[in-house]
Amino acid sequence: MTAFLAGNETTAASLSWWAWCMAANPAAQDTARREVDAVLQGRSPAGEDLPRLGYLAQTLNETMRLYPAAPVLMSRRATRGFTLGGWSIPARTMFMIPVFLMHQDARWFPEPQAFRPERFAPDAPAIPRGAFMPFETGPRVCLGQHLALAEMTVVAAMVLQRFVLAKGEGQAEPEAVLNISLRAKVPLALNVQLR
Ligand code: HEM
Repeated sequence: MTAFLAGNETTAASLSWWAWCMAANPAAQDTARREVDAVLQGRSPAGEDLPRLGYLAQTLNETMRLYPAAPVLMSRRATRGFTLGGWSIPARTMFMIPVFLMHQDARWFPEPQAFRPERFAPDAPAIPRGAFMPFETGPRVCLGQHLALAEMTVVAAMVLQRFVLAKGEGQAEPEAVLNISLRAKVPLALNVQLR
């Protein structure tokens, strides 16, 4: 049941945010499209193509950094008491993990508001464990994370093969609100042109 519920809306919301990030960052969109065209040569993507769509995966990761589909809903309970940043936390305290906030930490993500897929390039400075975790981490990490990345890469590649995405007329920076998953407050209006 969780796979169906957690696997559908999260992926759809992330792809919508990705479409916005591509529309708002035409240079990154062009780079991703050039990679898709070079790797696929007009074919539909297959499993073995996915590792070669590295820049496209970077655009998806950068999208999930700025707009994590599950931004605050993860919880953890302390198994023992400890001190964190001057706070004394008793055993059994329940935490909500603010991933949305953590993804804005300028120590690891300089100019955190900027959309920069290069942050996730293989030669970029390493991102510390736990600083980027759209799928959470630890024993309860998202069971579908690899499927999610695979399906989003396939859909994103097929969109770029066919369409050019641009901001819709009058479309301002969308406001992200928590609506089970992270959604745009007002529906996104994008201009979708056939190539
Ligand atoms: C972009 C897409 C997705 C995002 C951002 C996402 C994110 C998450 C997050 C944050 C959790 C909570 C982990 C925790 O509490 O530590 C989770 C759990 C889970 N997700 Fe995903 N998810 C995505 C797609 C999927 C897909 C495609 C599936 C399966 C088809 C899936 C199946 C699950 C399941 C079964 C759990 C519960 C794991 C457990 O409690 O052991 N998710 N996901």
